[in-house]
Amino acid sequence: MNMNLQAPGMSELQDRIDKLDLSRLPRHVAMIMDGNGRWANAKGLDRSVGHYEGVKSVRRATELSSDLGIDYLTLYAFSTENWNRPQKEVDILMHLIGMAIEQETPDLVKNNVHLRLIGDIERMPKEAWDRLHACELATAHCDGLTLTLALSYSGRRELTRVARLIAEEVAAGKLNPADITEQTLAAHLFTHDMPDPDLLIRTGGEERISNYLLWQTAYSELYFTPVLWPDFEKAAYLDALIDYQRRERRFGKTGAQIKETLNTTES
Ligand code: FPP
Repeated sequence: MNMNLQAPGMSELQDRIDKLDLSRLPRHVAMIMDGNGRWANAKGLDRSVGHYEGVKSVRRATELSSDLGIDYLTLYAFSTENWNRPQKEVDILMHLIGMAIEQETPDLVKNNVHLRLIGDIERMPKEAWDRLHACELATAHCDGLTLTLALSYSGRRELTRVARLIAEEVAAGKLNPADITEQTLAAHLFTHDMPDPDLLIRTGGEERISNYLLWQTAYSELYFTPVLWPDFEKAAYLDALIDYQRRERRFGKTGAQIKETLNTTES
């Protein structure tokens, strides 16, 4: 893949792209966007400025994922626990997310990006929900990158919802408890029609999952970076992808077994 090398910073991007094996990119990248508040505090600014800057990183991550041909990008935009933040910050975030998505909708359509939402979306304020829903509808026909925003999302709540849905099917006599398998659970997740994330990136220096995609990340490669989300440039994203490609994904098998499978599929 060649990018316009005249633009500033492009040669450092091209150097990194040259290191990537474009045939072995992750199909699904999930991200925990952390560090907006600290980024702003370090500059003596209000936390909200960090969130505004964070939107630019969302744009960059979406653009690069789409340009590279990654199929799914799933961003943790607002957790269930985030409702406990000061009301003013919650209001600003809700407004910002709605406005940003509304503004980006024409570009998302132009770039064939399909917006999806997961989480307790009905808890979103109407103003934000209307804008998000309008973008979902406007991009429904797009079959390039699927950009999923996890909003009012909690992995444990998602799994609790799955348990409730399955219990209802059992109670209605539609499902025999003995027939419940891992596939049954997976089929009831918000992400039932997506592959599990191959790579989970968390910015901001903390090294935890924070209730994100608990079922789906069982075999994801985890990548933690101290870079704060507003500073997460395309180069930093490419570094994560290069690191991912150095790893061997064994899914519980031995390294020798994995090499053997690769040899058979390649020959
Ligand atoms: C975590 O940083 C970030 C959030 C809770 C919000 C993330 C939201 C955005 C970047 C805007 C998203 C916009 C769209 C269009 C999806 P933090 O506030 O926890 O930072 P801290 O850990 O430094 O306090």
